[in-house]
Amino acid sequence: MCGIVAYVGSRQCAPMLVDGLRKLEYRGYDSAGLALHTGGRVEIIRAVGKLSNLDAALKKAPLSGTTGIGHTRWATHGRPSEVNAHPHVAGGIAVVHNGIIENHVELRASLEAAGVRFVSDTDTEIVAHLVERAQRAGDVSLEEAVRAALKQVRGAYAIAVISDHAPDEIVVAKNESPIVLGLADGETWAASDIPAILEHTRDVVFLLEGEMAVLSRGGARISTLDGTPVIRASKRIDWSPTQAEKGGYKHFMLKEIFEQPRAVEDTLRGRIDLEAGDIVGEEMGVTPELARSIRRVYFVACGTSSHAAMAGRYFIEQLARLPSTVEIGSEVRYREPVFGPEDLVVAVSQSGETLDTLAAVKAAKARGAHVLAVANVLDSAIPRVADGALYTHAGPEIGVASTKCFTTQLVALLMLAVYIGRRRETLPVHEARRITRALWHAPHLMRESLESSDAIRAIAKKHLRARDFLFLGRGTGFPIALEGALKLKEISYIHAEGYAAGEMKHGPIALIDENMPVVVLCPQDAHYEKTLSNMQEVKAREGQIIAVYTRGDDHAARFADDAIAIPAAEPEILPLLSVLPLQLLAYHMADLKGTDVDQPRNLAKTVTVE
Ligand code: AGP
Repeated sequence: MCGIVAYVGSRQCAPMLVDGLRKLEYRGYDSAGLALHTGGRVEIIRAVGKLSNLDAALKKAPLSGTTGIGHTRWATHGRPSEVNAHPHVAGGIAVVHNGIIENHVELRASLEAAGVRFVSDTDTEIVAHLVERAQRAGDVSLEEAVRAALKQVRGAYAIAVISDHAPDEIVVAKNESPIVLGLADGETWAASDIPAILEHTRDVVFLLEGEMAVLSRGGARISTLDGTPVIRASKRIDWSPTQAEKGGYKHFMLKEIFEQPRAVEDTLRGRIDLEAGDIVGEEMGVTPELARSIRRVYFVACGTSSHAAMAGRYFIEQLARLPSTVEIGSEVRYREPVFGPEDLVVAVSQSGETLDTLAAVKAAKARGAHVLAVANVLDSAIPRVADGALYTHAGPEIGVASTKCFTTQLVALLMLAVYIGRRRETLPVHEARRITRALWHAPHLMRESLESSDAIRAIAKKHLRARDFLFLGRGTGFPIALEGALKLKEISYIHAEGYAAGEMKHGPIALIDENMPVVVLCPQDAHYEKTLSNMQEVKAREGQIIAVYTRGDDHAARFADDAIAIPAAEPEILPLLSVLPLQLLAYHMADLKGTDVDQPRNLAKTVTVE
């Protein structure tokens, strides 16, 4: 989400910055802008919408200069608009930023108290003011002013800053959001990702967490945020431009599968208080009063989002002790649903545009229910119609098959259940602490889960000729089984069914023979022993078991023909871990079959038709 390109050299940089931003379009954006040193002062130009609008604005009011920064914005704080587009300016300082400033509320309040007038709703404008004030107060270099400003900032950022006072200099800094530097003869680049600069240089240096760099025509001087110099050799990149856009991965879907730990971190950021065992911040979309007064929760969603909603139902029932149900958008909109003023309707949709979900939301609103949207795209149709919004911060998802949006939905819904449970006092504080700590630790365990990718590819090879698959799970493992089956169908075109493991003997067991791979989710949770019995039933009929089991549990592994280990974890975060091998299995099956993984046949990313 968001793209940054920066250049200092001797060529006119406005067109090159726009071209660089174009190479970052895959990251998604809703507005764009540039700031250039135009000789004596910094000038900016911004436009809402596509880069062609920025091009048109530049035609009307050209900017000339050889030092500049550019940005494409994917809105998080404040709606997409010209005034919220980057760069943000304070005095002679211009800043572009990718990420989220966690303590923006406090910083904004203290700057306002000191007389600063903000023009945008963004967290980024705060950084521009902090740098400007640091420079003015200490009469220091741009580098020192940025360093002083960043000491006050908490959160994730990649920033690039230029100043009236430093015509041939750009300062960049990184904490958790990517920045790569590009070195060429007499010119230096910085960008959010390699494709933006690949046309100009293949010699790059990656900034690491907590580092900054001063860019000049002669190269980049790197240091840590506390001022210790860093010497790092450049790397030569030999990727093709298309490979570079996918970060070196073969497909966007694979890149997005591996981005999930980061996407979960971004969704949790600023929302968890580990000490209090609570969910905090203004962005839950539900007030404490509403959390206490509702009598029932309806989830409405389609496809993958409906599987996240099913897990959400388990969380709400268990932690908030509210009756809850999951409705498929396309069905509920044509029923006579009994929505009412005591209901919270949670509409889950990564795109925020799915027509069937939107129609269900409108029906719920018409009957007086309070609607909360859980969406990934800011200001999309469903959040706009809803009474409140809880955004996932997965960043743009390009692969049609949803992966990182699904796991961030699971996280958002678990946070929602903890939030409501605490306010209704159905969730004791020690339990809430256990769950919030588990959530905090989840990205680390997800990284561990993803390590099985190569082993999963070998399993996929073995089953490549299978015509049907069965996926079984219990508890929150049931929606994960449904999701595993959907992923396989969508991208490999292999028929697959997901079932609650306990339902197997009520029908699907008739399908099992030596040709039927059965994926069983059997982590060591409350359902473990019952699931082991189901595995025995499959084995007795010569089904081929692929078990997703807890690392070290030899007992479960013994029942399986193929076994994929996930780390031991608290039950509430198991779905986050067990879905990863299923996404990878679907991906490798599809890739080995040679299907169009990112754009599977007949499917669209955003379904705005019935
Ligand atoms: C996900 O892999 C699918 N492509 C599809 O099921 C999707 O989840 C569904 O269309 C709902 O989309 P939404 O989350 O944007 O509402």
